Amino acid sequence: MSTKATLELDGKSYELPVVVGSEHEKAVDISQLRNLSGCITLDDGYGNTGSCSSAVTFIDGERGILRYRGIPIEELAEKSTFIETAYLLIYGRLPGRAELRRFSDMLTQNEMIHEDMKHHFEGFPPNAHPMAILSAMINASSCFYPGLMGAVNRERFDVHAARLLSQVRTIAAFSYRKSRGLPIIYPKPTYKYTANFLHMMFSNPFEDYELKPEVARALDLIFLLHADHEQNCSTSTVRMVASSQANLFASAAAGVCALWGPLHGGANQAVIEMLTQIHKEGDDGSKFIAAAKDKNSGKRLMGFGHRVYKNYDPRARIIKAACDSTLKALRISDPLLDIAKKLEEAALKDSYFVERKLYPNVDFYSGIIMRAIGIPTEMFTVIFAIGRMPGWIANFKEIMDDPKSRIYRPRQVYIGATQNPYVPLEERK
Ligand code: SDX
Repeated sequence: MSTKATLELDGKSYELPVVVGSEHEKAVDISQLRNLSGCITLDDGYGNTGSCSSAVTFIDGERGILRYRGIPIEELAEKSTFIETAYLLIYGRLPGRAELRRFSDMLTQNEMIHEDMKHHFEGFPPNAHPMAILSAMINASSCFYPGLMGAVNRERFDVHAARLLSQVRTIAAFSYRKSRGLPIIYPKPTYKYTANFLHMMFSNPFEDYELKPEVARALDLIFLLHADHEQNCSTSTVRMVASSQANLFASAAAGVCALWGPLHGGANQAVIEMLTQIHKEGDDGSKFIAAAKDKNSGKRLMGFGHRVYKNYDPRARIIKAACDSTLKALRISDPLLDIAKKLEEAALKDSYFVERKLYPNVDFYSGIIMRAIGIPTEMFTVIFAIGRMPGWIANFKEIMDDPKSRIYRPRQVYIGATQNPYVPLEERK
């Protein structure tokens, strides 16, 4: 198997090493290309560019494979929990009983945000988007931990990671309560991660939320399925910020902002808005699909397509099945689920989608479950951020642990004005 690639340029040829990953995928190592040839590569959107070597998550887009630390997502979805999977992603292996207990206890010990942060919530207008609040409050929370500031503190990583993973849930629930003018509900130390989130979201001072096992399991599955996804836009953002040796909270806050976009994590909110619109117009989906195929419509079939998956997103398959079982258990029938299934069926027969290998992705069905649980649409991407937090922490840790880690600083091809003289104001038109 060739371990070299040859580049011919301006009559010269350059030998470049070929790196082979543990799943036999190949990459041409161009780290010396500019030194050797004076030229760089250009790859708009990084569709062909590996930014790093990572051992956290493997995706095979052609075969629709997703594995966290080598374990297939289907097995984790069936047998694991979000917090056990978080440990797997962050520390590289499944925890023993005592390790899982200690990790869970650390999350409980760090579930409260500093009491003074309550006043920060009062500064947001009631209709502030919870993703803006989440990003701001993650950074605000770091101000209460001086140990986070300054050089990356490896000894304190475990507690910083537990604090971030636990508090992201508390901040999200508190922002929901404030947006509805409801009193904030503190976490219960006896509740586990996802149950506690539901408690903080939906309990009241006079009455605890009735925690249905099906609901807690469905939300825990949603968190687990979103936990990592190799070098997606928001995880790459976290690595970009971490590469400058900014702290964990700053890196995660940046990840929240990248995730917010409708082409990324914001798609789950956009999917429900799309399905609601289709339902309201009495469209059987065909009108919308026609618009999604028309470049001039400005519409896309949200929740469909993926930069890496050119096959069915394995997470979408799992969530679709969970939709049926969760809605059945809750005795809910949601017309939007029927519309989603009709859209999928029509699109997967339509040459436009088939030729472009556009399949449902993780966002296509996830909102249906979140609606059934009672999570408001504007919180959908916040749920995605809570789920993705272990993946961001794991990628931050890879950079922190890499003694050869360098600041991310891509080059560019300059296409602007060539050299011009300065024109004094009085001589300008
Ligand atoms: C996530 O990267 C990750 O891993 C992300 C994620 C994770 O877990 O982190 O999996 C989570 O972000 C899932 C994706 C959520 N976004 C959406 O569902 C938004 C709708 N989908 C797209 O806009 C699009 O498919 C992307 C953004 C997901 C991928 O975009 P690409 O790879 O840049 O593909 P493209 O825009 O170049 O599209 C290729 C072609 C184009 O048509 P042509 O120019 O070839 O004629 O496919 C068309 C696009 O117009 N196309 C769509 C479409 N997605 C792509 N046409 C209609 N509807 C769509 N949804």
